[in-house]
Amino acid sequence: MGEPLNPTADLRYAASVPPVPAEAPAPSGALRDLRGRPLRDLRISVTDRCNFRCTYCMPKELFGANYRFLPQSSLLSFEEITRTARLFVAHGVHKLRLTGGEPLLRKNVEHLIAMLAALRTPEGQTPDITLTTNGSLLARKAPALKDAGLQRVTVSLDSLDDAVFRGMNDVDFPVADVLQGIRVAQQVGLAPIKVNMVVKKGTNEHEIVPLARHVRDAFGPGVVLRFIEYMDVGASNGWRMDEVLPSAEVVERIDRVFPLRPLEPNAPGETAQRWAYRDGGGEVGVISSVTRAFCGACNRARLSTEGKLFLCLFAHQGHDLRALLRGRHEGRAYTDEEIAAAIGLIWSRRDDRYSELRARQAREAGPAAPRIEMHYIGG
Ligand code: GTP
Ligand code: 5AD
Ligand code: SF4
Ligand code: SF4
Repeated sequence: MGEPLNPTADLRYAASVPPVPAEAPAPSGALRDLRGRPLRDLRISVTDRCNFRCTYCMPKELFGANYRFLPQSSLLSFEEITRTARLFVAHGVHKLRLTGGEPLLRKNVEHLIAMLAALRTPEGQTPDITLTTNGSLLARKAPALKDAGLQRVTVSLDSLDDAVFRGMNDVDFPVADVLQGIRVAQQVGLAPIKVNMVVKKGTNEHEIVPLARHVRDAFGPGVVLRFIEYMDVGASNGWRMDEVLPSAEVVERIDRVFPLRPLEPNAPGETAQRWAYRDGGGEVGVISSVTRAFCGACNRARLSTEGKLFLCLFAHQGHDLRALLRGRHEGRAYTDEEIAAAIGLIWSRRDDRYSELRARQAREAGPAAPRIEMHYIGG
């Protein structure tokens, strides 16, 4: 007999079947939500499994041997993912990011990348295709990913110190293998590579400057290091505000050793604030969802492994697109036009801005609202 279902995972089953409007204009790329925000970025989770147990994401006590991951039959197939992505691209999505869990654990993920690379935006361009990984399988897989059409990659790396790294991933995985993965990704031309470090006060904050130095020295300006404020995402990591190191302090600490100057954003809605090394050694970024919310231009939608659409990283309910992909009505399957219309309606009603509201919510006495887990929806 298995363990009773983990209560933090119940939200995986909370989804509504989206209504299909009887009449809707064809996708034009001009879709806006209630706050005037366009839809530009689709993050696709291809597995809820991970070979790491980062303490801030999948703590071992909750995600042990008895945890029930999604069954194989519930996962979207590559054909279903590609069909869905095509409809999002028609609605204006320019960037497709594969996430997990750990996306490289999904069997033959390079086949999916090749299918996505064949999509075209309404302007005839290939969408930007990228992937967020913990790097553990990257050295082995980078060449096939590149050949399939992956353009770039983002690697999570929380410490350069082997003991700290092994402790944070909590499966004793050595940091050298992740560094080797970044090296191979660079060699095969996945560029630019981003390296994301989640900073947890008291745990890895002393690694900020050493990691900045190492990335500059070992990889050069082609690898961009970004520091992420530890977020209250999900419900299983026991998040506390006093474990957040504000990005302003991260910038100060680096600036003391490697002087910095601010850079303009690359694109509207970008998560990171960019800083250049004054000596021309490249750039770093900070992602400050806690101290400086960036919901105002949030153009990101998230598709879970079993086909639920979430409009915010902190959402507590998804929209069950799989019900439309697999369902029937009036004796037939739903058409692309109908599913695209349903997606359009969902986005046009979107009002999410969790990070902006967080401060206000934190002042309220009640318990935090339930929300989905990071390993389930990806970054
Ligand atoms: P590129 O611009 O394509 O390189 O990606 P990005 O800047 O969106 O960054 P990436 O996807 O690597 O996301 C970095 C991290 O930022 C994630 O792991 C999350 O921790 C955080 N993040 C990304 N998107 C959001 C978001 O919409 N809201 C919040 N609160 N955090 C986000
Ligand atoms: N706060 C900030 N970032 C997080 N990630 C996972 N959980 C959190 C959290 N609580 C990051 C991972 C990885 C990406 C997928 O999301 O470190 O970089
Ligand atoms: Fe760590 Fe990413 Fe795996 Fe979560 S999904 S446990 S952050 S490697
Ligand atoms: Fe977007 Fe939600 Fe993140 Fe705000 S908190 S930036 S709305 S995903």
